[in-house]
Amino acid sequence: MKLNANAETVLKQRYLIKDENGNPVETVDGMFHRVAKAIASADALHDEHADTDKTESIFYDMMTNLEFLPNSPTLMNAGRDLGQLSACFVLPVEDSMESIFEAIKQAALIHKSGGGTGFSFSRLRQEGSTVNSTGGVASGPISFMKVFNMATEAIKQGGSRRGANMGILRIDHPDILKFIDCKADNTEITNFNLSVGLTEEFMKAAEAGKDYDLVDPHTGETVKQLNARTVFNKIVDAAWRNGEPGIIFLDRLNRDNIVPEQGKIEATNPCGEQPLLPHESCNLGSINLTQMVKAEKGRKTFDWEKLERTVKQAVHFLDNVIEVNKYPLDQIEHTTKQTRKIGLGVMGWADSLLMMGIPYNTEEAVQLAEEVMSFITEKGRQASQQLAEVRGTFPLFEQSILPQDRPQRNGTITTIAPTGTLSIIGGCSSGVEPVFAYVFIRNIMDGTEMLEVNPILKEELEKRGLYSEGLMRRIAQEGAVSHIKELPEDIRRVFVSTHDISPEYHVRMQAAFQRHTDNAVSKTVNFSNEATREDVAKVYSLAFTLGCKGVTIYRDGSRDEQVLNIGKVK
Ligand code: CDP
Repeated sequence: MKLNANAETVLKQRYLIKDENGNPVETVDGMFHRVAKAIASADALHDEHADTDKTESIFYDMMTNLEFLPNSPTLMNAGRDLGQLSACFVLPVEDSMESIFEAIKQAALIHKSGGGTGFSFSRLRQEGSTVNSTGGVASGPISFMKVFNMATEAIKQGGSRRGANMGILRIDHPDILKFIDCKADNTEITNFNLSVGLTEEFMKAAEAGKDYDLVDPHTGETVKQLNARTVFNKIVDAAWRNGEPGIIFLDRLNRDNIVPEQGKIEATNPCGEQPLLPHESCNLGSINLTQMVKAEKGRKTFDWEKLERTVKQAVHFLDNVIEVNKYPLDQIEHTTKQTRKIGLGVMGWADSLLMMGIPYNTEEAVQLAEEVMSFITEKGRQASQQLAEVRGTFPLFEQSILPQDRPQRNGTITTIAPTGTLSIIGGCSSGVEPVFAYVFIRNIMDGTEMLEVNPILKEELEKRGLYSEGLMRRIAQEGAVSHIKELPEDIRRVFVSTHDISPEYHVRMQAAFQRHTDNAVSKTVNFSNEATREDVAKVYSLAFTLGCKGVTIYRDGSRDEQVLNIGKVK
C-alpha cells in the first residue's frame, strides 16, 4: 500500500477499531477490507447472484491505491455495529421548545457517530417577542444556538471526532445584526460555522442602497426595515475581522433543489458543500486526482479513461453506502432514501496542477477545472443511469426537476468536500484548495525537528539537482517558493501557494468547479493580513456574479489561533 507516515498515524489514532484499552485490533489493510466488504455486500440486495467478492476487490483496490476514499464515517464505521456512514445531515428547528430540544438530541446522536449537522435557525421567533404559553419573552435564535453549542461540546469526548455544526440565519430575520456579530469573540460558539442566508432580493437592494424588510418568522409581519447596503457591509466587516460569518445564496440552493415539492432547502452541512432538506443526509467520497495523472509523450495529462472508470466505481460505491448505512433515525433513513443523494468530489487538485506544470492562478488551470469537473459529473450521471436501469430510480425521480428521459438512481451526484482528513490519508492537497505551504517543520517530541516537504516539489528539485535541506528551511521560513529568487523562474511560477494567489483567482476557481457540481464546493478564499474590507466586499460580489452558492473568506492572522501558519518557524 502507498500510505505515507502521516496517513498511517491518522488511521491508527482515529480510524482503526480499538479494544477497551485503546489498542488497535485491526490493521490498516484490515480496515480497507472491512469497508470494502461491507459496502460491496449491498450488491446482493439487488441481485442474488451478484459477485460481491469481485465488487469487494474493486472497492478495496480503489481505496488502497488511494484513487478514491469515502468520507471519514464510512471508513470508521462500515462493517461495525454502529454502521453510520454519512458525514452530512440537516435537521429542522421549528419555533417550539419540543422541536428545539428534539433537534439537540438528534444532533447528539449524529455527532456520536461521526456525522456533522446543519441547522437553519430562521424559524425561531426573535429575542424579546412573547411566548404565549408562559407570557414570558423568547430567548431568540442566538441564545438557543449556544445551547446547541454546549451540547456539542459535552459529547466531544464520546464520539470519534469533534462534533461540527452549521448555523444559518436568513438575512430578513429580526435578530440578523446580533447573528452577524455573535462570533466577534471567537471563543464563543466554537462548535459552529455560521453563514448568513442571503436572498437575491437582498443582493439587489444592497447594490441599489435600498432598505429591505425584517420579518417576524412567527407572525409573518414586517417588524422593521434596514438599509441593505449597511447590513451587507456589516457582514463584510465581521468576516474581515475573523472570518465569520460566511454567506450562502439561498435562492441558488433552491434553484438546484431537485424536489421543490418536498419543501425549501434552508441549510447545509457544517462546511457548506452539501445543501440538504430537513432530515436529509448525504454521504460523500472523493477521487484523488493525483492518481489520475499520466505521462504521455513526455507530458503529464489526465488519464481520462482511468478517471471515467474510477467515477463509475465510486458512484457504485456511494450508492451502496445508502443501502448498508445504519441511520440514526427512521425519519432520516426515509428522507435520505427518497432522493438518494450522493456527493462525489475531488481532492489533490492543486497537486495535479503541479504535476502537469500548470500554475493554479492561470486561465489554463481554470479551464482545466471546468473540463475535469464536467467530465466527472457527466460520467457520474451515466453511472447513476446504469444503476437506475438495474436497481430503479430514486423514489421521487418522477416528481423531481431532473430530465425525465434519463433515469437516475441518485438525486445529486457531485459535491466538493474539504477532505480535511481524507487528503492526509490520500497524501495529497485538500479538495480544490491551492497548496498552503510546501515545507513544514514539525517539532517531534524528543526535541528534534522533521522537515516535511511537498513530494512533488521535492521530486522536481531533485530532478534538477537543486534540492537541499537548507533550501527547504528557507522555503519554510519565507512561507513561499515564489519568494526564493535564485530558483528557476518556471518553478517559482508553478509552485504557487495560497497567498501567492489573488482572492479573485480563488473565487474564479471555486466558480469553475461550481458550474459543474450538483451540490456545492467547499473553498476558503484566503486574503493576506493587509487586505481591506473593500477587498472582501469585492470578492463577495464576484462570487455572486460568478454563480457560487456561497463564500467563506479568511484573512491571514485574523484569529489568535489559526489552523495553518506560514513563516512561523520556531
Ligand atoms: O476528510 P473527511 O472525510 O474527514 O471530512 P471533510 O471532507 O473535511 O468534511 C466533510 C464533512 O464532514 C463536513 O462538511 C462535515 O459535514 C463533516 N465533518 C464533521 O462532521 N466533523 C468534523 N470534525 C469534520 C467533518
